[in-house]
Amino acid sequence: MSLMFPKWMNALPTLGAVASMGGVLTVIAGFWYWATPSFFEVGYEPIQPGSGFSHKVHAGKLGIDCRYCHSNVEKSPEANIPAVDTCYACHGQGRVSPARSTASDEKVQFIRDAYESDESIEWRRVHKLPDYVRNFPHHVHVKAGVSCFSCHGQIMSMPVVRQEQSLSMSWCLDCHRHPEAAMVPQDKVTDLIWVQGELQARGDGHGTVNTSDLRDRLWAAPPVACGACHQ
Ligand code: HEC
Ligand code: HEC
Ligand code: HEC
Ligand code: HEC
Ligand code: HEC
Repeated sequence: MSLMFPKWMNALPTLGAVASMGGVLTVIAGFWYWATPSFFEVGYEPIQPGSGFSHKVHAGKLGIDCRYCHSNVEKSPEANIPAVDTCYACHGQGRVSPARSTASDEKVQFIRDAYESDESIEWRRVHKLPDYVRNFPHHVHVKAGVSCFSCHGQIMSMPVVRQEQSLSMSWCLDCHRHPEAAMVPQDKVTDLIWVQGELQARGDGHGTVNTSDLRDRLWAAPPVACGACHQ
């Protein structure tokens, strides 16, 4: 027997067990990695109520400033979603769109229905941090010259909003360590087309803004200590 099965082969079952254990671990590790929320959430684009809301039409084609609807984004930690009244101001009976086409008239009926029954439109939320991230202040970022573009992508060309960034901790920290790379003059923050062009040019080495100057002027000192974002 000992001749047919050399001694080293005694180690085989153990090796086999280790190997298959390794396989299991790889599967678990892989699942852990790929199944983190950030992987699933990038590209998240829920179906919105009614005929939805197009940023491509309103912010892009019509050129309505982000702050017309997200009016708290510079003033408070939370960016607000506009109330039905804001939509109704343009889409009420006899307002802007009916004069343009009957197709739009049908498309905005859900706004009039909500307005008349005094209900809000239940927009599905796209971007959401976990609850243990206690502090994400929109206004501080916007005032420091960080554009919506850096965190939400080119919203002006989106018929339906989708999540473009991972919103992971390393994503926050990468910018906090070198914020000047993303900073633009404050009056350009909601001009997403300009910002996209500028950041692209910066990547190619010929941006138009002196970024270290801007950082000094806006006094930006993003925190990296745990307590700033967690409590
Ligand atoms: C006419 C009003 C209006 C304007 C102008 C507008 N938005 Fe919105 N925005 C909305 C509404 C309504 C929603 C909720 C429905 C949806 O997600 O599409 C929304 C949703 C969003 C969301 C997703 C929020 C979430 O659920 O995570 C982002 C990000 C956003 N807007 C950014 C912008 C930016 C950036 C601009 C300017 C380029 C802008 N918006 C201009 C009305 C507006
Ligand atoms: C400042 C005026 C204004 C406001 C505020 C506004 N809209 Fe509009 N909306 C328009 C105009 C103008 C059009 C027609 C655009 C076109 O035909 O290209 C339009 C078109 C639409 C359409 C039809 C789009 C399509 O695909 O044909 C929908 C749906 C709509 N708006 C929903 C909303 C909702 C929901 C809100 C509130 C969050 C809102 N709008 C706020 C001016 C406005
Ligand atoms: C530094 C990154 C960053 C910048 C800059 C930024 N946002 Fe956000 N935004 C986020 C994050 C992260 C969330 C999710 C926040 C949460 O879950 O508490 C969010 C959420 C939102 C929401 C959803 C709020 C809700 O209650 O449903 C809207 C609307 C929004 N942002 C609009 C804007 C607009 C408009 C701008 C530019 C004026 C802007 N954001 C700039 C990162 C950013
Ligand atoms: C693209 C750049 C960028 C990204 C991404 C970013 N930040 Fe910031 N953040 C800044 C800058 C710039 C400041 C500094 C503002 C100042 O000092 O005036 C800042 C400041 C802060 C502050 C300090 C607020 C205060 O009161 O001083 C907190 C908290 C914060 N960020 C949380 C977050 C979290 C959480 C995320 C990720 C979900 C995030 N940030 C992503 C650029 C960014
Ligand atoms: C600039 C803001 C910011 C700072 C500073 C920060 N975190 Fe986080 N942290 C986040 C965000 C955002 C998430 C959520 C990540 C996600 O959803 O994938 C997170 C997630 C976590 C998690 C959950 C595990 C995970 O990776 O998903 C732990 C644990 C954590 N942070 C610990 C820390 C510790 C310890 C520090 C200090 C060394 C720290 N954080 C500093 C923003 C921050």
